[in-house]
Amino acid sequence: MQRGDVEQNRENGKGGILNKLRHGLTASIFGERDCSSSYEDSRGVGIRIVDLNKSFGDNHVLRNINLEIFPGETFSIIGPSGTGKSVLLKHIVKLQEPDSGHIYIEGDDIFAPRRDAGHDYRYSMVFQSSALFNSLTVGENVGLWLREKRICKESKIRRIIAEKLALVGLEGKEELMTSELSGGMKKRVAIARSLAMNPDLILYDEPTAELDPVTSDELARVIMSLREKVDLTTIIVTHDLNFALYLSDRVAMMSSEGFVEIGAPEQIKASRNPIVRNFIYTTTKGIKGEE
Ligand SMILES: Nc1ncnc2c1ncn2[C@@H]1O[C@H](COP(=O)(O)OP(=O)(O)O)[C@@H](O)[C@H]1O
Ligand SMILES: [Mg+2]
Repeated sequence: MQRGDVEQNRENGKGGILNKLRHGLTASIFGERDCSSSYEDSRGVGIRIVDLNKSFGDNHVLRNINLEIFPGETFSIIGPSGTGKSVLLKHIVKLQEPDSGHIYIEGDDIFAPRRDAGHDYRYSMVFQSSALFNSLTVGENVGLWLREKRICKESKIRRIIAEKLALVGLEGKEELMTSELSGGMKKRVAIARSLAMNPDLILYDEPTAELDPVTSDELARVIMSLREKVDLTTIIVTHDLNFALYLSDRVAMMSSEGFVEIGAPEQIKASRNPIVRNFIYTTTKGIKGEE
């Protein structure tokens, strides 16, 4: 074979892949696999927050925040509104940058200018509004990211959608129109959509804000059952004390001064800290048998 032929063959080979890419037939990049190698199983990550500070003008919202969240933990941050819970969550997903301090995920400083490749982790945020596309079906919403990024073969994507819907108790609901769902079901579809990327970390900001108490309980059970079935770290920001106490491994109570108490639900309930007592009293008053 002439040297020119080899070059020509190489070109053809490359052209072949380029053509496939162009026509959306990217299965060849998966090799023998159904999905690209970046689509790995989730693994709960550990998070360490060190001396974090953030101000907006004169408003010093995060004051020397120190916090450790363990791999695989379901961790809730509770507290009155305006104390910086959402701001803290936004720092963890890098939507906001601190004035000073660090956040380490699996030991990796997420705000360091040069991060080592290979330390990447996947996270997914479930927003209060669920943020689903009403014009798409349930299945299309859940599969959106996988299809957009061409992470897996189409047949595999269908299997993943079915699997993630089953995890949130919505087996076989692929064809339902999102616009016709109740608030609780929308929330569960939003969770299934987040799970589609196999996140190592899933974050919820006020997940019960638009839900009635019965639906909130259902949601709590779904989030608890995920802990049994999926290896991921869960952070929940909520002002719903009962919700947090019910489903969390640990709860951190945030005030305008920062964290005033961190511990297992039983510890929080038994806390003598006046800020915690006051928060428990205000959110449970009217319930018989409570202080
Ligand atoms: N992007 C922003 N610009 C200016 N101020 C902000 C911004 N985001 C949040 N804040 C302020 O930070 C404080 C904490 O907000 P937030 O974290 O949303 O409270 P919450 O604990 O209710 O989630 C509030 O005083 C809010 O007005
Ligand atoms: Mg908030």
